[in-house]
Amino acid sequence: MYNDNPTIDGLKKTIDTNRQGEVFEQLDPNKQKYSKHFYIESYGCAMNFSDSEIVASILSKEGFGPTRDMEIADLILINTCSIREKAEDTVRKRLRIYDKVKKKRPSTMVGVLGCMAERLKKKFLEEEKLVDMVVGPDAYRDLPKLIADVEDGDKGINVILSREETYADITPMRLMSNGVSAFISIMRGCDNMCSFCVVPFTRGRERSRNAFTVIAEAQDLFDKGYREVNLLGQNVDSYKWLNPETEETVSFAELLIMVAKIDPRLRVRFSTSHPKDINDDVIFAIRDHHNICNYIHLPIQSGNSRILKKMNRTYDRPWYEAKVKRIYEILPDCAISSDIITGFCSETEEDHQDTLSMIEWAKYSMCYMFFYSERPGTLAAKKYEDDVDLKTKKRRLQEVIDLQREVAIVHNAKDVGKTFEVLIEGDSKKSPDFFKGKNSQNKMVIFPKVEKYSKGDYVDVKIDRNNSATLFGSIVDPDA
Ligand code: SAH
Ligand code: SF4
Ligand code: F3S
Repeated sequence: MYNDNPTIDGLKKTIDTNRQGEVFEQLDPNKQKYSKHFYIESYGCAMNFSDSEIVASILSKEGFGPTRDMEIADLILINTCSIREKAEDTVRKRLRIYDKVKKKRPSTMVGVLGCMAERLKKKFLEEEKLVDMVVGPDAYRDLPKLIADVEDGDKGINVILSREETYADITPMRLMSNGVSAFISIMRGCDNMCSFCVVPFTRGRERSRNAFTVIAEAQDLFDKGYREVNLLGQNVDSYKWLNPETEETVSFAELLIMVAKIDPRLRVRFSTSHPKDINDDVIFAIRDHHNICNYIHLPIQSGNSRILKKMNRTYDRPWYEAKVKRIYEILPDCAISSDIITGFCSETEEDHQDTLSMIEWAKYSMCYMFFYSERPGTLAAKKYEDDVDLKTKKRRLQEVIDLQREVAIVHNAKDVGKTFEVLIEGDSKKSPDFFKGKNSQNKMVIFPKVEKYSKGDYVDVKIDRNNSATLFGSIVDPDA
């Protein structure tokens, strides 16, 4: 879900949801007439994209409609990410562009949302004169008031983190959806405190959303023609919602099954799984429900147990390997993907070799790969020296990328000759004569169009070739 690293741009294409920095398809599905307009850009993980849809919904109730044209916007918003230094640099660069727009149209309000807003708080207003509003991830309901403050000539700021806010009752405005697949946020925050990670500081404590509102949102999407939902959280496997009426808790596996039961034609995906929390119940739910996808994003971060301990991931390599074995044992066709960090504090050449051997061992279908970027305030920044030089971090990253590409080619080559059920997402980017869609394993499949099928249909596609990121094939037509 994450990508701000130019070196992995080639892999970026593999996952459609990984659209960091892409401007939303800013069309209002409700086709309302609005007197004022907002323009929004999102960076970072899928949670941020999902939040932007919540923000859009809140703003539409205030008479602000979406626009793709920042030059005509009354309000320019940027939903920011702090995960690596580079992500923050990107945001600063975008602000320079907004500066120019604001010079031409001084009445335009500029608001900074998301993780960088939370991390920098008031400092943002001091450092960036053009910014009128700084709003943290739990404060979006306050936007109408903050906008009013700015209209009154003040600056607006709310960065209070909440223990309860889940925006459970807000129906997101699906700004960027392809009409087939949508995000549903099921929890917020993270309690894990991995030593390298800024998320617990920018997103606050973990809390799970009311299960009934998740089901209602998924049902509504299905009724509107959507055929895939992606349940989102930093650590979905620790989802736990206490029903206040029955005093029973709903676990993640139970929630998955409840969503899957809405309709067999609704595919269910989820991310991200923390290796320590994914359990047999979840794996069995995938096995027992055809529409819960055979795909698990299970970030390892490093293949070396000493580094994992330093990262505070709470598992070591043998423990992770046992988890992967268990998944392949119950779900032989499951694709597993991962996140990797190279050059974490004190990582030696041998430790790095362990990461490389882990990639080969786990046979990941895909990885998001990064070099370590020290984040202010994290445990690692306080306790450990960032002692691997940048050149070495980048060289190790390149080795990881090169190896993963080979592993992915082998993974995909095994699919040649097989037939997969593919959900059509639309036209292939390269040619209107081809469809694109994903199989259950989350692999992108490209195949020639057959007229009677359209976006949102399921088709069986037989694979005849592959590269490291994509499968190619043709529809097996049951009527032919
Ligand atoms: N909650 C998810 C990850 C969220 S952040 C999980 O625990 O798996 C997404 C990814 O960014 C992480 O998995 C990690 O690989 C990477 N990341 C996080 N902090 C980083 C840092 N300081 N430097 C480099 N990469 C980082
Ligand atoms: Fe960050 Fe770890 Fe939480 Fe993931 S689980 S968001 S890496 S602290
Ligand atoms: Fe970035 Fe915040 Fe997501 S730091 S990765 S946008 S939770």
